[in-house]
Amino acid sequence: MNHVFRRAFVALVVSLVSPLALTAQIPHLVEQDGRHALFVDGKPFLILGAQIHNSSAWPETLQYVWQAANYLQVNTIEAPVYWEQIEQEPGKFDFSNVDALIDGAREHNVRLVLLWFGTWKNARNHYTPEWVKNDPVKYPRLIDANGRRTDSMSPFGETTLHADCSAFAALMRHLKQIDEGKYTVIMVQVENESGSLDSVRDFSEQAQKVYSADVPPDLVQALHLQRGSWQQVFGNSAAEHFQAWSVARYIDRVAAAGKAEYPLPMYVNVWVRSPDDLEGEGPRSYPSGGAVDTMLDLWKATVHSIDMMSPDMYQSGDTNYMRVMDAYTRADNPLFVPENSHDPQFARYIFRVLGNGGIGYSVWGVDSTNVTSEISPAQVLPFDFLAGFKKNYEMLGSMQRELASLNFAGKVKTVLEDEPFDHRRMTFGKWQAIASFGVREEGEAQGPAGPHGVLLVAQLSDDEFLVTGFDARIEFHLTAPGKDERWQIMRVEEGQYRNGEWTARRWLNGDECDFGANFGATPQILRFKMGTY
Ligand code: DGJ
Repeated sequence: MNHVFRRAFVALVVSLVSPLALTAQIPHLVEQDGRHALFVDGKPFLILGAQIHNSSAWPETLQYVWQAANYLQVNTIEAPVYWEQIEQEPGKFDFSNVDALIDGAREHNVRLVLLWFGTWKNARNHYTPEWVKNDPVKYPRLIDANGRRTDSMSPFGETTLHADCSAFAALMRHLKQIDEGKYTVIMVQVENESGSLDSVRDFSEQAQKVYSADVPPDLVQALHLQRGSWQQVFGNSAAEHFQAWSVARYIDRVAAAGKAEYPLPMYVNVWVRSPDDLEGEGPRSYPSGGAVDTMLDLWKATVHSIDMMSPDMYQSGDTNYMRVMDAYTRADNPLFVPENSHDPQFARYIFRVLGNGGIGYSVWGVDSTNVTSEISPAQVLPFDFLAGFKKNYEMLGSMQRELASLNFAGKVKTVLEDEPFDHRRMTFGKWQAIASFGVREEGEAQGPAGPHGVLLVAQLSDDEFLVTGFDARIEFHLTAPGKDERWQIMRVEEGQYRNGEWTARRWLNGDECDFGANFGATPQILRFKMGTY
């Protein structure tokens, strides 16, 4: 082949192969300079998600799930896979629920995060198959300090662990067979809110034997601590550390068995600690053993196949929400919030997740089929209840890929009304974005009581910014103006992204921007170009 032909041939092969190569990439997490992205189809992907009710992942009820997905305009649905349903007899698998989920998701153009309801679901064993529940000798329960069996499995039950590993591996093998290359399923949650509510740790014979030995040397080393017994190393929180290590080790083996079949990103979701819970042996409001903020270092040191620890958010209050976000935003932990209460006040927290560089946010309990609602049992939620979530998803959805890439590059900052004052100034090199808040639109109904203003600013180039928000105002000033240097707005465009291209609908000037740009209750995206004179 001569030189020219060879180049033409290579170009042809590259043009044919590279889009394929990109789309054929399995979803994966990438870390760069302490920031994270979930790559789907070769590019950063922002999970704008909704989780369905616990018992909605059945073919008969999925129609309501897709209605909710369509109403909310989410790009991802989080749905459970029940161990008790897929393996009703040991070793015999029925994936009909999973197949219905995947078919429906493809038809409705959403991705899936599957939730493995296995050994643990909200710290209990309620989703284990009947043959596990009925045989506490073969599949041992966690034993409390009084020697009683509890409603939770022992993390030292090797037979339970093997059974869970083999079921989870079968699920991942099945996903590989039916979804590799299409990647409708982009991530998997291993177990659900693990730990124990009935006892601070397992007191079974097997557990006692391990507890009476020293803390494993690799664990103390990873945590930079001195060797010794659990009591000596962890003091009055020894029992909780022991339980967290036992549970983390177990779940890591389940995840490893699944990843050996099909290595999708995997995470654990966490029933978070309330700020009132003190460390120690006393009563707590969360399951002992989960990856709560005080156990994060230990979990990180113990697991190898779990990519993230992800907080479920139901406790209200801005300060608490920010506290938890900050705890789970780490160079070794991508921030992902798989569950947010569907109470309307939680809608705006998506902006805090984005401001912390998060890879996704999801609202819990969205399909109106279910008879259990966290807010009122037996209430069927009307979709309008979710209007605040829908508004955010619609607005952010139009620029989801751009936002994910900008966030990965560290270019996105957000501020929520009522956050500490210094958050209201966001510095982007030469420019400072100054936020202020208040409901502004005339003639529109006031929103729910309480602060709801939010602003998101993304830097596109030195002097260009993408801005969006609700009930807020923004101005750009110079961070350190030179002598006689003054700022001016070169142009403000109102528009949106269409297939990755910014499209201006109109240019704004005059009243809209004379005293800063105002955002009301209607979704609006602005692109600023700033200059000096
Ligand atoms: C958190 C759990 O992870 C979900 O499965 C569900 O039970 C919600 N709590 C209900 O509030």
